[in-house]
Amino acid sequence: MSVALASGAAVRAPLVADSRDGLVAALAEAAQSRAVVMTMGALHAGHAALIRAARREADHVTVTIFVNPLQFGPAEDLGRYPRAFDADLDLCARERVDVVFAPTPDVVYPGGEPAVTVDPGPAGSLLEGASRPGHFAGVLTVVAKLLHLTRPNVALFGEKDFQQLVLIQAMADDLDFGVRVVGVPTVREDDGLALSSRNRYLSPHQRASALALSRALAAGSAAAAGGPDAVLAAARAVLDSEPGLRVDRLDLVDSTTLLPASSGSSRLLVAAFVGTTRLIDNVAVPLPRLDGQPPSALAASPDASPRKA
Ligand code: PAJ
Repeated sequence: MSVALASGAAVRAPLVADSRDGLVAALAEAAQSRAVVMTMGALHAGHAALIRAARREADHVTVTIFVNPLQFGPAEDLGRYPRAFDADLDLCARERVDVVFAPTPDVVYPGGEPAVTVDPGPAGSLLEGASRPGHFAGVLTVVAKLLHLTRPNVALFGEKDFQQLVLIQAMADDLDFGVRVVGVPTVREDDGLALSSRNRYLSPHQRASALALSRALAAGSAAAAGGPDAVLAAARAVLDSEPGLRVDRLDLVDSTTLLPASSGSSRLLVAAFVGTTRLIDNVAVPLPRLDGQPPSALAASPDASPRKA
């Protein structure tokens, strides 16, 4: 089947599978080199950037669309998480995705909530894991399952969810998943706001407040030469000057261990509520090295990931 694009051009619609058997059939003809992009739907240009990066890495691209109940806490927004399946399929067709796997929870978890889950290790309780207990066990468990079901050579994840990327990379390495994990830089609006499915909850006024997140990160990053305290103070000053924000976390951590950073390749991460919507963002911060050497090229790039494959 083909679908018409706004330009008038027709593209082949992706094969859509919502069952395990359907996925096996859809992947039967797939090429040797396969990439997967996992999402919870409500797709935007950030997801599209992952799909394009996937296309550069492999001949065949699968996108999964699944709002994973396991990674939402009891007080979180599972019920109101945005769902936009038709628009998601259009985006996948425009981006020439080969297969879309969009299962329901009973397909992913046929026996209900699994008794065996993936332990994210100590780094899973830091940062976002401290604010959202159990979140990363839920993320790693579904990512492990979706990797087993889709069997890709390479999987792409956004630096927007930096701790998630680091933990998935660690899971793949530590448990020998045999998949290459690739990080993709954060896609932003022209005014700096990081794209997020949750941005659609923001009123125009709230959206203006939300800009303080990326402004704070830029201010923090610009203060890198002054060391960790200067970075955190510069970021905090911007956040404190925005009354529409309630800051949940502001952390400067080592890009690999996620422990508080004192030097070298670091990451500044922020989480804040605008109204009832919780937003996150992060940026690389090239702290001076203790040995006096200039920060590495990786840390100096605005959005480089730590353990890129
Ligand atoms: P979701 O929030 O839908 O994000 C899917 C992927 O898109 C993640 O790798 C995320 O980091 C990436 N992404 C989101 N916004 C981005 C942006 N502005 N720029 C670049 N990449 C962006 O993250 C999840 O879903 C889930 O936790 C999932 C991994 C699918 C497991 O359920």
